[in-house]
Amino acid sequence: MCGIVGYVGSDSAKEKIINGLKSLEYRGYDSAGIALDINGKIEVRKQVGGISNLEKIIDDDSFDSGVGIGHTRWATHGAPSTVNAHPHINMDGSIAVVHNGIIENYTEIKERLIAEHGIEFRSETDTEVIAQLIGVLYEGDLYEAVTKAVSQMRGAYAVAAMAADEPDKLVAVRKDAPLIAGIGKGCNFIASDIPALLKYVREIYLIENNETLVVTKDDIKIFDEDGNRVKRDVFHVTWDADAAEKGGYEHFMLKEIHEQPKGLEDTLNKRLKDGNIINLDGINMTKKDIEGFNKVYIVACGTAYHAGLVGKAAIEKMARIPVEVDVASEFRYRDPFVDESTLFIAISQSGETLDTLAALREAKSKGARILSVVNVVGSSVARESDDVFYTWAGPEISVASTKAYTTQLMCMYLLALYMGKEKGTIDGTYYAKVIEELKTIPEKLQHILDKEGDIEKLADIFYKREQVFFIGRGPDSGVAYEGSLKLKEISYINSFAIAAGELKHGTIALIEDDTLVIALATQDALFEKMVSNVEEIKARGARVIAIAKEGNTEIEKKADIVIYIPQCMDELTPLLSVVPLQLFAYFVAKNRGCNIDKPKNLAKSVTVE
Ligand code: F6R
Repeated sequence: MCGIVGYVGSDSAKEKIINGLKSLEYRGYDSAGIALDINGKIEVRKQVGGISNLEKIIDDDSFDSGVGIGHTRWATHGAPSTVNAHPHINMDGSIAVVHNGIIENYTEIKERLIAEHGIEFRSETDTEVIAQLIGVLYEGDLYEAVTKAVSQMRGAYAVAAMAADEPDKLVAVRKDAPLIAGIGKGCNFIASDIPALLKYVREIYLIENNETLVVTKDDIKIFDEDGNRVKRDVFHVTWDADAAEKGGYEHFMLKEIHEQPKGLEDTLNKRLKDGNIINLDGINMTKKDIEGFNKVYIVACGTAYHAGLVGKAAIEKMARIPVEVDVASEFRYRDPFVDESTLFIAISQSGETLDTLAALREAKSKGARILSVVNVVGSSVARESDDVFYTWAGPEISVASTKAYTTQLMCMYLLALYMGKEKGTIDGTYYAKVIEELKTIPEKLQHILDKEGDIEKLADIFYKREQVFFIGRGPDSGVAYEGSLKLKEISYINSFAIAAGELKHGTIALIEDDTLVIALATQDALFEKMVSNVEEIKARGARVIAIAKEGNTEIEKKADIVIYIPQCMDELTPLLSVVPLQLFAYFVAKNRGCNIDKPKNLAKSVTVE
């Protein structure tokens, strides 16, 4: 979490940093700040709230220069307040630091700095400890001081620092938190993520763990942890800058929901050759490898975990390999049964989620083969995996994930199909049928989007509810979890998802007159069972909105309202049935006046444990 931007050049650092931070607000937005070198002195301004609040206190022309660092915060240590906002400075204000991550041993360092150097701390943050530590170690060379400071720090971090005595320079260091450098003309940048720099540069360096950057306006030097110069290939960003803008939509979330047909088409087309042959170029997975896997673990967090639940159903059905799906924060602490015959699949939009990364490392250390399904090219999860299956969703800015989820599903289906074909657990007819159906999904999804007004009307009716249940069976249960998460995270309604058959084992006690239940009933094979579950809750007075396939009109006799999705194979319905739920969450949150793209307490990229 947290976003960092730094600029060294001859233009307005303030403008570049503020624009960069605006593109990083999805990483955290409880406070923001900027430090500029003004005539050899570091001046810091910071404010609680988003970047727009910060802008109000920096609009005087005298506050600008060609060198600075900025930060948008998601609080970890210390409440969101102006004093806890970054940048932090040392005692005499000659060093300023911004930081993304957590310093695990900050209390120990803090106590030492107080006892040995009489340092007086102003904030409760671990970041101020870094600034004070660098200040104590500084002897005229910022790179040296940062390197010495880092050798005393434990944790995960990306830190950027500036020194009043070296006004032409920024130093930044990375350990388990994202950091990139942007190569400009007569200027250079540092940032947490690519969107921050898209307006200004296309050529970047992806910084690896334990590397330190020394950035001046004419040069970017990268050093490894032993102080050796590192040569890094330039990474050319091909994203369209508009892709990270709202493009006429009121919110990024709505724009991203509407980008799903394109994202799915791109993700599919990148992997199909000659019309229907899945091509896993760049992914080293032979028939022998696949036959050798006796178990698959899919590990992820949040929405990506929900994509894993659908992926499990697909892999088990098509490739007949047992699959366990686990939330990353649990996986690593339970000594999982992983060995050389395990395929470990990490799913992550950002590729920077610390729990997922840590789980991946745990599996790797036990010898598993690591395949990741990732959206952000060059991210940590991608770099640490043996193979990467990229989703082609484009940048996802809204904190609530939508297009990343559906493209993750597409990758999981292609992978399951590929494995099944290689293993011989599916026949050619089934394979061809699934491929043909996958090709129709973007158009069918567009058909649902074309009728978004119907969902908006439902949201107008139900947006004042304080409790909503989601139920489903088989692949529908995974979608129920995702629909429930979407609703709660952006509308703050207390929503709850459960496998429909499990309802009667306790949760049904909560169903009473007029309780709203959204029942996914898209599985032909489980349709009758689902109808029975709907009857059970109707008998307790529930108000039921059902999601069903066009033509399955039987459900109209049981549910109060039915939303139809186009016909498609049972196993692929999650690609479609999630869309009305995304739209429902969106319009409900809009009616409730919520901050849709930046819900409270959340951040897009969770780089702390
Ligand atoms: C919810 C959401 C989160 C993320 C989760 C994992 O809408 O976006 O639940 O899915 O934080 O993030 P990634 O996919 O970046 O690892």
